[in-house]
Amino acid sequence: MSDSFRVAVLRGLSRRPRRIPSRFLYDRRGAELFEEICGLDEYYPTRTECALLDRHSPEVAVLLERRQPRLVEFGGCSPAKARYLLETTRPRAYLPIDICRDALAAYASDIVRERPGLAVQPIHADFMQPFRLPPGEGPVLGFFPGSTIGNMQPEQAVRFLARIRPLLGEGGAMLVGVDMKKSHERLFAAYNDARGVTSAFILNLVERINRELEGDFDLGGFAHSALYNAGRGRMELHIVSRHRQVVHVAGRPYRFRCGESIHAEDSHKYSVEEFQALAKRAGFRPAAAWCDAEKLFCLHFLRPQE
Ligand code: TRP
Repeated sequence: MSDSFRVAVLRGLSRRPRRIPSRFLYDRRGAELFEEICGLDEYYPTRTECALLDRHSPEVAVLLERRQPRLVEFGGCSPAKARYLLETTRPRAYLPIDICRDALAAYASDIVRERPGLAVQPIHADFMQPFRLPPGEGPVLGFFPGSTIGNMQPEQAVRFLARIRPLLGEGGAMLVGVDMKKSHERLFAAYNDARGVTSAFILNLVERINRELEGDFDLGGFAHSALYNAGRGRMELHIVSRHRQVVHVAGRPYRFRCGESIHAEDSHKYSVEEFQALAKRAGFRPAAAWCDAEKLFCLHFLRPQE
């Protein structure tokens, strides 16, 4: 893992525009800061998605015709979110997949303690790469919350869904949480919180480079920037150099002009129709879409096309 971090960082800093894959934001410290983001007033997605799950997870069980699924959760290890589906769909096994081994192990042991009857099979994997599910009975309910799918480029999201589709089996489905297009002010605030937690989360990427790759990023010399790109329908998050400077990573020099940045994340926003069109391209049939009254966030229930 630290090897792949090194390769990705050295490569990412050498290309133009500079870009480092966003999965590296989530080391232990990054995961803690992300938890904190989820509780911020300005960050509406988490609480909105939980309310939608509270309200609609009984319908998920009905759509599955009360067949007990294997619940496969993609990333995040979100205890609060999985809980609704554990209650209503009564899965025969719960398989959280995460790239962060520590977070996954801690999460799995908590959930086992909390629900002694539940078979928990954590899978340590990068779900952007091919991976296998252990053999098991019943349809698979794939659960992909947090609008993490919005962090993929649209083409990547289509390929991801198309690759997951064969894993779902007879009667299986995907439940995907997707953040929606809305006022630019609201979007801006969600990624520029008053307490600066989002900024700390983004800048943790360069701190991590300092810690793990002998970097000498001067933290005061860089700032976080989060802007909405209306043409592409996404928030774009950057780490911007405040002045001209040279940074060393693993003994190599990298020159930054004033205002030059490292692109750290994109967060795409989709209307219901846009996301359904994307799902169809991946071979899914949109079977339900549940949004809150303000149309902030949407839960999509998708069936593999026969
Ligand atoms: N999936 C989340 C989103 O796009 C991830 C996220 C939330 C995030 N806040 C962030 C990523 C800040 C980078 C920076 O909303």
